[in-house]
Amino acid sequence: MSKYMFSIHQSSSTWRRTSLKTKKPSPPWCLWSVNCHSGPEVVLQPNERQGAHNNQVTKRHRKARSSCLPVLGCFDQQYSQELGDLWASARAVLLDPRSWQYGVMLNRFSTVTGITQLLQSQGFSMLLCNGPSTVSHSKYQAGKDSLSPPDHISKCPPNDSHLQPDGTSRALGQDLQSEPSLSSSRPTLQCYIHPCSLRFPSQAHRPGQLKQYYLLNAASLLPVLALKVRDGEKVLDLCSAPGGKAVAIMQCATPALLCCNEPDPHRRDWLAKTLESFLSQSLTSRVIVSAQDGRSFVNSEAGTYDKVLVDAPCSNDRSWLYCGSQQGEQRLKERARLPVLQAQLLRSALSAVRPGGVVVYSTCTLSSFENFAVVETVLNDCPEAEPEDLWEEIGIPLSKYFTFRSAHPGHGQTPHKPSLQPQDGPSSSYRHRLGILVIPQPGKTWGPMFLSRIRRRK
Ligand SMILES: C[S@@+](CC[C@H](N)C(=O)[O-])C[C@H]1O[C@@H](n2cnc3c(N)ncnc32)[C@H](O)[C@@H]1O
Repeated sequence: MSKYMFSIHQSSSTWRRTSLKTKKPSPPWCLWSVNCHSGPEVVLQPNERQGAHNNQVTKRHRKARSSCLPVLGCFDQQYSQELGDLWASARAVLLDPRSWQYGVMLNRFSTVTGITQLLQSQGFSMLLCNGPSTVSHSKYQAGKDSLSPPDHISKCPPNDSHLQPDGTSRALGQDLQSEPSLSSSRPTLQCYIHPCSLRFPSQAHRPGQLKQYYLLNAASLLPVLALKVRDGEKVLDLCSAPGGKAVAIMQCATPALLCCNEPDPHRRDWLAKTLESFLSQSLTSRVIVSAQDGRSFVNSEAGTYDKVLVDAPCSNDRSWLYCGSQQGEQRLKERARLPVLQAQLLRSALSAVRPGGVVVYSTCTLSSFENFAVVETVLNDCPEAEPEDLWEEIGIPLSKYFTFRSAHPGHGQTPHKPSLQPQDGPSSSYRHRLGILVIPQPGKTWGPMFLSRIRRRK
């Protein structure tokens, strides 16, 4: 049972925070460590209660699960058209949970001494690392959001061993020492991955102790990287539960405010538990939980935030493939309505962000109707919204680890408004600006994940 959860009631522009007792029994801890994008399957190791130092990383022996045939049939029809040959290999990955890889995101608010050595000894290497920049970049100007270098490439802390996204390895070495307090902790997003389907064990909850790491689909971190949160900013996580991306945001920077919004009460409990498990007590004034329908921010919070993340409710391909066939049929019926909701949420986010601020829209489906088409629809009726190219910033530097695609022909071939016409390149530059899609492939099983970054013009 969580000791408390925060609930936010909005009255005009002021927030009132109340402490509530959680009424429902806590969800199992094993689920809390897994991003919803990773699907529901979790294997607890027998010795996980002894803590991370004693944990063994084991090859997962997952029970064979049967896929939901109505969902698979629908995906086959749609995705073979949208992805061509890539669908066959993506399908093979999605239908083989034994091949799935898991990332380990370290928690900067906990004591993580020894975990990096343990990970490295098990064959994990650092995928992403952002922190204080020590490198000067001629091509980029520090302080300019749109031109600053990809943080995951340039800003690794000295004295830590990691693999750069370009594949070069740095001889570094020192583990992060105990840094539980906000004042002493450096904003540093660190995620380790393994080339095989090895899974670091989940951590048990211990009251009063922060978890040391969060297990996730590493592609879930890409929308957070695209958001580029900086210290002191006001950030809205519009669709926040179970809170994986909120935790990741807090690894990257120390915002003045992170508002985690989740309208579903059960999922909000889960979110509150996640925040309690990963964030230091000193952050409770900066991180708040809100319970609104995300679409209402269009009226209530106009122009308030520097950055907004819309990690939208979506088809969630991994999870849908393993639901029962009755549930699958039901979900497919409701699927057609998702793009409308997603576009409303994106419009609401664009209204909640200040002029010059940034919205990142993401989903964990391959469906172009919920991805590129939603972005294109919203851009067409929001003249103040300008899409930004993530291909160069994220797609190219991280292509060794993720399989990226931009919009397939049909999206972006006929831009609907002049401001979206490709000014300086082929039509592919317009398609890149609609967003990038991570497609699971053998050996790079991350995704599905779509991300698009949109700036509200000043
Ligand atoms: C993909 S999940 C978010 C995952 C989360 N960002 C994370 O990284 O852990 C989408 C969430 O949106 C929530 N949601 C559904 N309808 C919503 C709405 N109208 N406004 C805001 N959130 C909504 C769902 O309950 C769900 O928790």
